[in-house]
Amino acid sequence: MTASNPSSPTRDGAEKPWGEFVTVTVEDGIAWIALNRPDKRNAINPGIVYEMNAVLDAMEEDDDVRVLVITGAGDAFSAGQDLKEYFRIPDAGPALDRERLYRANAAWQWRRMMHYPKPTIAMVNGWCFGGAFQVLIGCDLAIAADEATFGLSEINWGIIPAGIVTKSVAEVMSQRDALYYIMTGENFDGKRAHELGLVNFSVPRSELHARTKKLADTLKEKNPFVLRAAKSAYHHVKSMSWDSALEYLMAKSDQTKFRDPEQGDQQGMKQFLDEKAFKPGLQSYDRNR
Ligand code: ACO
Repeated sequence: MTASNPSSPTRDGAEKPWGEFVTVTVEDGIAWIALNRPDKRNAINPGIVYEMNAVLDAMEEDDDVRVLVITGAGDAFSAGQDLKEYFRIPDAGPALDRERLYRANAAWQWRRMMHYPKPTIAMVNGWCFGGAFQVLIGCDLAIAADEATFGLSEINWGIIPAGIVTKSVAEVMSQRDALYYIMTGENFDGKRAHELGLVNFSVPRSELHARTKKLADTLKEKNPFVLRAAKSAYHHVKSMSWDSALEYLMAKSDQTKFRDPEQGDQQGMKQFLDEKAFKPGLQSYDRNR
């Protein structure tokens, strides 16, 4: 664990277990989470790994947080895993410590993110290399600056895109595109990242924050319980047969209706059918009733 930011007490007065390598600002329901090693282009060291796990724990139970945005401080999103602190030093140390670090890294970069109970958006502001692709693809949605630079640079220094990078890339890019960038290590910008399916869209850097906030605000309006079930269902059915997916989705739908604290389906139907108060094709039902 790393030093904490003493100016960031928790509600019970204790220091937060982040603040040195990761900063968090909660504003209007959105947690803006920044990897914070700008002088090292936010390369992912053990400090970022352990602080990000602590941040995900805390944001999960913070009722003031509805959406998480992950970005980087300064002019980088992240230059990938830290070659010295994540690879060279742990490689020379006890195997158990290295395994523990790798497990913790997998947790925050994708294992927890995939089914994280709140929506996550990657806001790619600049350099995005190697292991940073896991973070990017681990988030539900992603927006890039047109000017951002992406690269699967592993081939340039003699390793394969490991961790879970190759698997992540295979999930969102075509085989031709994935192999092209894995094998050449060629860089590309935010607009190309959109064409490749790596991000939802790209915008000029000057608009990145506002556009990300707009997307986060849209997600904030949705029923959070159903949002969570919908994204989890997506990830589960991807690897199922059609018959299994049908069974699973019907059961998941029943479970979601039954357990939804705000009984969204009843509200939605009442407001559309009885009250003629909204149109689901145009907006969400009124959740404040
Ligand atoms: N690991 C460790 N240190 C890094 C990393 C990294 N991935 N990326 C940048 N740094 C450090 C540099 O060593 C340098 O440290 P120093 O000031 O102590 O010398 C500092 O960050 C600034 O980096 P520069 O290279 O000087 O910054 P510049 O803006 O010129 O270039 C760039 C940025 C292109 C991102 C360059 O730093 C780079 O190529 N980094 C490596 C990118 C990469 O290949 N990442 C994949 C890692 S492998 C993986 O993730 C599985």
